[in-house]
Amino acid sequence: MRKFNIVWIMMVGACLLMLVGYNDQTKRVHNPDMVSIAHRGASGFAPENTRSAFSKGVELQADYLECDIHLSKDGELIIMHDEKIDRTTSGSGFIKDYTLAELRELDAGSSFSEEFQGEQIMTLNELLDEFYEQIGLLIELKYPENYPGIEERVVSLLKNYEDLSSIIIQSFDVDSMKKIHTMLPELEVAVLVHPSESILSAKKLDELTSFASYINFNVSFLNKRMVDKVHERGGKVFVWSKKDKKLVAKAQKYGVDGIISDFTKWPIDEPIYLVQE
Ligand code: G3P
Ligand code: CA
Repeated sequence: MRKFNIVWIMMVGACLLMLVGYNDQTKRVHNPDMVSIAHRGASGFAPENTRSAFSKGVELQADYLECDIHLSKDGELIIMHDEKIDRTTSGSGFIKDYTLAELRELDAGSSFSEEFQGEQIMTLNELLDEFYEQIGLLIELKYPENYPGIEERVVSLLKNYEDLSSIIIQSFDVDSMKKIHTMLPELEVAVLVHPSESILSAKKLDELTSFASYINFNVSFLNKRMVDKVHERGGKVFVWSKKDKKLVAKAQKYGVDGIISDFTKWPIDEPIYLVQE
């Protein structure tokens, strides 16, 4: 009788664990047909690519946080958009010429607003530590050709995570994304398409969709035909824009799979809320 009780308790426990796991996954994406991605975090409300912007993205119920990655002088994966620290921090020069300790001294908040004075830069390790459990991550490798070995470092870090289904790596650099895909095929990669090259030939689409799960475009340089062609090949499409007021309307008309936006009031009058409860 006692043995029966133990088996019964174990079975109920296993069911509960499965349920918790299931809920954890569904929490991450609100509307799988059109996911919302906070560009550089919710960068319309807080300094881009900082902890505050990422927290705001979670608060606004984005499905993914987008961020940009470079390598510091001592080989750390640094989250920042530009190659240089001038625009967004109190310093000047290239990220690659500073160690992580030196970069941590910078104020990465005041250039956005005094309210964020003292905001520190983040590393990819920290982003994963603090946000992996809460939300999906769309991680862009910026100019990977300038950082030999960056792909190996990213892959080595991500191998610490058993479930990579909520992480996507993207870049304008096709060779870099091929390399990541070869090293870690279970990790989805995306190719970002330069606005000037948005009309892709059938041959190019075949090549890209052979390894990339997503082909991502600036919405202003896209049409529905191109989205359909990616879909026909089993790929998905995310779109982004900094300026196009019709970002959401176009995304819906073209039937894309996700929107990368600042969640900003500018230039769109209202914040973009794509979440469907
Ligand atoms: O995710 C798309 C977008 O981030 C690419 O442009 O310059 O903002 O990194 P950028
Ligand atoms: Ca980016």
